[in-house]
Amino acid sequence: MRHRRRVRSFERAVGSSTEMFVLPGAIRLLQLPCSDTNIGAIKTLFSVQYMSKSEYLRLADAIAAEIADGALKPGERLPPQRDFAYERKIAVSTASRVYAELLRRGLVVGEVGRGTFISGDAKRGVAAPSEPRGIRIDFEFNYPILLDQSALIAKSLEGLEKTAALDAALRQATSFGTPAARSVAAAYLSQDAWSPSPDQLVFTGNGRQSIAAALAAVVATGGRCGVEPLTYPFIKGIAARLGVSLVPLAMDENGVRPDSVQKAHREAHLSAIYIQPVVQNPLGVTMSPARRADLLRVVEKLNLPIIEDNVYGFLDNEPPLAALAPDSCIVIDSLSKKAAPGLALGFIVPPQRLRESVMASVRSGGWTASGFAFAAAQRMMSDGTVAELTRLKRLDARARQKLAADRLAGFEIQANDKSYHLWLTLPAHWRSQTFVAAAARRDIALTPSTTFAVAPGHAPNAVRLALAAPTMDQLDSGLRTIAAMLNASEHDFDSTE
Ligand SMILES: Cc1ncc(COP(=O)(O)O)c(C=O)c1O
Repeated sequence: MRHRRRVRSFERAVGSSTEMFVLPGAIRLLQLPCSDTNIGAIKTLFSVQYMSKSEYLRLADAIAAEIADGALKPGERLPPQRDFAYERKIAVSTASRVYAELLRRGLVVGEVGRGTFISGDAKRGVAAPSEPRGIRIDFEFNYPILLDQSALIAKSLEGLEKTAALDAALRQATSFGTPAARSVAAAYLSQDAWSPSPDQLVFTGNGRQSIAAALAAVVATGGRCGVEPLTYPFIKGIAARLGVSLVPLAMDENGVRPDSVQKAHREAHLSAIYIQPVVQNPLGVTMSPARRADLLRVVEKLNLPIIEDNVYGFLDNEPPLAALAPDSCIVIDSLSKKAAPGLALGFIVPPQRLRESVMASVRSGGWTASGFAFAAAQRMMSDGTVAELTRLKRLDARARQKLAADRLAGFEIQANDKSYHLWLTLPAHWRSQTFVAAAARRDIALTPSTTFAVAPGHAPNAVRLALAAPTMDQLDSGLRTIAAMLNASEHDFDSTE
């Protein structure tokens, strides 16, 4: 441990002041003439012996990029560490750190006596999204469940168990629902600035199915869809299955940048864009009015449909972009977060011209909601239960966000104070994946930045914290643990376990 510290401080010294102090000293010590060749040789010697921490990570990143773009293929064997060190002109100890880092990221697997191989999972495109694993403090899945919400829901569902009600609820449902379900849902989704017509509505089992159906309806296999560079992870798996390439667009504090849409479309035709203009997941950004207008101008000029994910829109008063451009937007919404994930119904509000193809896509994907979900949702929307849950969840999100801001004060967080999630940039001594692994050892589930990143190898050193699921006590204790971890280094933290 003391030795590691000494080496680290030496690395730091070599990294920062090689030119000023170490080189002249070494030249004198070795009694060499001060020629360019000798200086070069000593520099190489130092860089071989004492590569800095960021340099070995850069090398690991470079190999990760080679895996991502297919230059290194699953099953391929990496050279023995000694040969790798020789090829890359680095110390063998640095080569083992590079290999250990690749191992930690799950990009390679080591087999005793056989060597190190590119992992079979590494180039599968997208890791399968995970499912709740029973970890004690869940900062990973963002489904808010209020303490007494089941009592509210039970009241709303009273009578649904009666034979006559069940007779209707248990019939097969359709993608367009009943006229009653359409008008209840249209009234529920309506806001001051936006009121979809009941005739526009299409239903699915949940928000993910709505996204899949909309994407399948407007982007053909082999087509391209522009997306925020850090986005809702599920879109990656859906796009991969549909054979759609996701193209990361540039984004700033006002949302997606219109010039990046133009640029991506110029490079190769885009068929649509998928974005979240209100309370974006994972960054919490809500698009500014000026940005909305600029983006819509570009998108309308290019004749691009927008798949507008409004699943988190219930936390803000901002209307969807569809309020300004009903003919360009396919709005996606669902009840999973507003009500409960176990009682989901998904909505799609396409422009009239796309409704038939969206419905065909729901049918062919097998994404039609169950009749029981329709019946339950219809009750909860029409008697005001969902509206009441939404009101309470807005207050709950603010309270949780405030606690998080207090507990994580002084760290680099990006959040919308109305949202249920926050983006935490890690201090340089932590890596996103290692931080997530260390938190898991503390029984805390978090999501690493790579899960949200669309371009492989371009994830910031950050994690997303979903604040919705834990109880307030768990939230408090989980945040305290995370703050303690951030203050310690990976090594110190583990040595105190
Ligand atoms: C932005 C976004 N869209 C869609 C969904 C999926 O919604 P559902 O749970 O209804 O499938 C989620 C769920 O986390 C989400 O974060």
